[in-house]
Amino acid sequence: MLERMASTTYMFDTAEEGERDRLLAQALMWDPVTRRRLHDIGVTEGWRCLEVGAGSGTVTRWLADTVGETGHVVATDIETKWLRSLDAPNVQVMRHDVTTDPLGESVYDLICARLVLVHLPDPHATVDKLLRALVPGGWLLVEEYDMISLPMCHPPDATWRKVAAAPAEMLSMGGGDPHMGAKLTSILHATGAADVDTEAVALPRRMPQVPSWQAQFGQFRERLVDAGLVSPAEVDKVIADFDDESCDLVVYGPLLVSARCRKP
Ligand SMILES: C[S@@+](CC[C@H](N)C(=O)[O-])C[C@H]1O[C@@H](n2cnc3c(N)ncnc32)[C@H](O)[C@@H]1O
Repeated sequence: MLERMASTTYMFDTAEEGERDRLLAQALMWDPVTRRRLHDIGVTEGWRCLEVGAGSGTVTRWLADTVGETGHVVATDIETKWLRSLDAPNVQVMRHDVTTDPLGESVYDLICARLVLVHLPDPHATVDKLLRALVPGGWLLVEEYDMISLPMCHPPDATWRKVAAAPAEMLSMGGGDPHMGAKLTSILHATGAADVDTEAVALPRRMPQVPSWQAQFGQFRERLVDAGLVSPAEVDKVIADFDDESCDLVVYGPLLVSARCRKP
């Protein structure tokens, strides 16, 4: 059973074996997109930054290198064990629940949170809280999946389409939102934030090139089958295709919607 934490709909057991590998594989896939967005924002030496739900810490590490010794990066998460290796002098790791613990007012030049809002009960309230923690003119970067592209593939493949549609249904059944990314633009506009700018990125790949997606299907296998969303044979076929070097099916994975804005 999935453990439901009081203030989050986070679907993974944070103590689960393999959680770090899953977080890391996901992080490495999307880091080039996140870094490009942070670079475009202009993060540079001396900035005070906060990464919320920092996971395996790859973005925090890049931020720490970028802001240098005159800057500072706070990395928070409800589970900090994967962040312990971040021992740079300009990094502070904090066990912190963004929904319930204080963040302060007008503290940071930049706050980022990737694939975190979807797990929280009230993303609007959290975005408001993050904006309050920024200095005037400070930047917020939030990034979330829209799973609408997950069943997309080339050439058409009925088994992939069915199995790849199932995680979104499972997420909805658990109280999550598979289309959180699509909502970021309106969430940021609703706060009255300035300079809202949103883009969506997909990474179409041949199946053998994306073992991390195979790991996700492997992790979800029992739950997808138990929920009656797919048969064992269907999900096993998809898992096996990721191992088949001759498989030429190109799958899109989720869209990563990357949304930034400034505190007025
Ligand atoms: C899918 S992972 C993303 C990790 C990292 N941001 C990345 O993109 O590589 C979601 C992270 O959010 C954290 N998280 C979930 N609920 C949280 C909360 N209420 N407050 C802070 N972090 C939370 C989880 O522990 C996990 O590390």
